Amino acid sequence: MKGKLTVDPSNQISTIDERIYGSFIEQLGRAVYDGIYQPGQASADENGLRQDVIDAIKQLNVPIVRYPGGNFVSQYKWEDGIGPKADRPTRLDLAWKSIETNEFGLHEFMNWAKKVGTKADMAVNLGTRGIMAAANLVEYCNFPKGSYWSDLRRKNGQEAPYRIKTWCLGNEMDGPWEIGQKTAYEYGHLANEAAKAMRAVDDHIELVACGSSSMDNPTFGDWEATVLDQCYDNVDYLSLHRYYGYYNDDDPTELDNYLGKNIDLDQFIKGVVAICDAVKAKKRTNKTINLSLDEWNVWYHSNDADTKVKPWQKAPHMLEDIYNFEDALLVGSLLITLLKNSDRVKIACLAQLVNVIAPIMTDDNGVWYQSIFYPFMQVSNHGKGVALAPKVDVATYQSREFPEVPYLDSIATYDQANGELTIFAENKNQHESLDFKTQLKDLTIAEVIEATQFYGYGPKEDNRNGQMKLQPLSTQAAGDQITATLQPLSWNMIRIRVAN
Ligand code: AHR
Repeated sequence: MKGKLTVDPSNQISTIDERIYGSFIEQLGRAVYDGIYQPGQASADENGLRQDVIDAIKQLNVPIVRYPGGNFVSQYKWEDGIGPKADRPTRLDLAWKSIETNEFGLHEFMNWAKKVGTKADMAVNLGTRGIMAAANLVEYCNFPKGSYWSDLRRKNGQEAPYRIKTWCLGNEMDGPWEIGQKTAYEYGHLANEAAKAMRAVDDHIELVACGSSSMDNPTFGDWEATVLDQCYDNVDYLSLHRYYGYYNDDDPTELDNYLGKNIDLDQFIKGVVAICDAVKAKKRTNKTINLSLDEWNVWYHSNDADTKVKPWQKAPHMLEDIYNFEDALLVGSLLITLLKNSDRVKIACLAQLVNVIAPIMTDDNGVWYQSIFYPFMQVSNHGKGVALAPKVDVATYQSREFPEVPYLDSIATYDQANGELTIFAENKNQHESLDFKTQLKDLTIAEVIEATQFYGYGPKEDNRNGQMKLQPLSTQAAGDQITATLQPLSWNMIRIRVAN
């Protein structure tokens, strides 16, 4: 089989906002407790922050981390997590039926984010709390000094304001599972009023309104339009969430369909963009609302196990999906989809980061990487500059849900400042290798910096024994062409230095 990618530097989708390589830490399961925070663990610092986990996250190059939820935030009182630890209350976490000791709160998270080299995407509780709790949190975090909440922050040891820029106005407020679920009108009105109060404290912040929790919810579409109708002028982004699962493990044809789920994400994003733009037209405004895909991943492996978790524990083993090789292939293709939509998707958070549906897993002794770690690490480190509109010529196949799935999914990003072009390419063919040619327009190859392939594992193989690794990919490059053989079911990256 043959496949060709044509790359034209003048045909740009957008400058890539690196926040699309964001992730998510929720106070849930072992993400925080026994994850990023474990006092006494061998690598932990004097504040209980695990250095081995920080080192692993640094490899993923995550520029922004959403916190503290998720469903958790809709019943959370942020004031419980500040001040002397001995005075902090132990609460029932009603979202996940766990015990929350509040040992880890706002300051601990911000200290951790500083060590990781990432920024906060802070969520406020619009489920069970309201306008002033949100505005007070902005004051606590961002106001310099001389007011009740800013001076309390200083008293609690943080003199300089945190200056958190990106804020989520609640979480999945349409979801029946969400504590404080609302109708679209109720939520849109509350989001607008909270946004006004938060911006009154700090007008440099950016705000994300909640879209539907899923495209499959009956409210999808109406929810987005009604919410934006209420709060359009005071928010900057609309959120969307999407998780993928396998339909039937025993059906051998299902893998073809699973690997086509990037088409679903593409349709979802374009559908939400269309709604945002319809509201824009109705309001006759020049302001554009962009998207924050602030939860996305594969999530289905752990569902049965989670129902067996005993309630009211601290740090229960929950949502601990073990990812297969096929999940890594899908995650790679979903990342390409984010790049293809980088003109409108400006923030995206892989949900989540550590131990909970996560690329990084821990035990008391150390960390290990899931299969999905590898494509994410490559795209977040090298998918920089501008995303170039891909012209891909390749055969397609038909699957259960998708009439035409291209066997080759590919895109190039161009970091002009550093003279680097990076090609990501996935061969979805289970049986045949793919003769891959990239044709460059108006660019000449100076050298191939790095070429790797991720392949050779069974679709159901996972990385619990640590055998997965990226391998070198052989390429032939000259002038304006580069060729390589992409193995069946493989994820590939080629980095090129272009001549001046
Ligand atoms: O990421 C796990 C959960 O999925 C989040 O708490 C919630 O927002 C979503 O339903």
